[in-house]
Amino acid sequence: MKKVNIAVVGATGMVGRTFLKVLEERDFPYNKIYCFASKRSAGTKVKCKGEDIIVEELTETSFDRDIDIALFSAGGTTSEKFAPIAASKGVIVVDNSSHFRMDKDVPLVVPEVNPHAIFEHKNIIANPNCSTIQAMVALKPLQEKYGIKRVVFSTYQAVSGSGVKGVTDLENGLKGSLETNCYPHPIANNCLPHIDVFMDNGYTKEEMKMINETKKILGDDSLKITATAVRVPLYDCHSESINVELDGSFDIENVFELYRDYKGIILQDDVANNVYPLATTAKGTDDVYIGRIRRDFSLDNGLNIWVVADNIRKGAATNAVQIAEVLITR
Ligand code: A2P
Repeated sequence: MKKVNIAVVGATGMVGRTFLKVLEERDFPYNKIYCFASKRSAGTKVKCKGEDIIVEELTETSFDRDIDIALFSAGGTTSEKFAPIAASKGVIVVDNSSHFRMDKDVPLVVPEVNPHAIFEHKNIIANPNCSTIQAMVALKPLQEKYGIKRVVFSTYQAVSGSGVKGVTDLENGLKGSLETNCYPHPIANNCLPHIDVFMDNGYTKEEMKMINETKKILGDDSLKITATAVRVPLYDCHSESINVELDGSFDIENVFELYRDYKGIILQDDVANNVYPLATTAKGTDDVYIGRIRRDFSLDNGLNIWVVADNIRKGAATNAVQIAEVLITR
């Protein structure tokens, strides 16, 4: 792997700090690393590979130096403004916001699923929505082997997906407070069928992201998909029930085999011993856990699976770093 200069934008945030952790853990081969955040954080320090890095304010001149790859996670508005500036200066941006995901000139990539799309970039590559990423890793082997006709997503998403504000709402709620700062209702002791804003069609934006991003990543506009995205009172990891209608008939044993051997997937399905994927198992790891594999008897070719992953790692930071790793192998 060649060594590059790398930038982290949003380095003080929840995903940004995880970028640094993942770069360190995977010993990503960089020469220099630059960290950017808002003016508020300028001058503070973050750490990567044992080195203290002084956070700089992100400005229009931040990329006027030798930076090869920039990992962005500083919100859609910051990406909208600064990713094109970086791209125009020859930096390859891997952007975690939703801003560019559906742009036809921007590849939307899960490295285990559509790595070929990475090199179609015009200096901006989008990291998919956290719930979409883990679902894609689970669906790709099924698409390759059987073909997919229809998908029903039901998600159970942790508060860390809403950043520090979501975590604080849960912490305060568990102490008895009914005041909220992030969600429209208390998240403690509730499941909220409301992630991101409601759209005119009655879906939330999060649900529409799952639907549209899935079609783009799997390269199939004809896929029939519906989704219900729910915020649950867990700190970390997203869990998903995925109901799939396959194109052809299948043997359930073969589905187990498929998942047993697939890169990035850990099969955990031994119901006789109460073994199935849990948020507490996935936390802090980079894999996608799959279990509760069973036939949907209400359809000819229906399948149910339960999928869990760490939303801040595989659902955000790790996926972006994996994209950067593919970039530097060329
Ligand atoms: P800061 O800490 O200075 O506010 P999270 O999603 O966890 O809230 O993190 C958001 C990240 O994006 C933080 O690092 C935050 O920096 C950064 N950020 C927010 N607004 C801007 C901005 N206008 N320019 C640069 N970075 C920003």
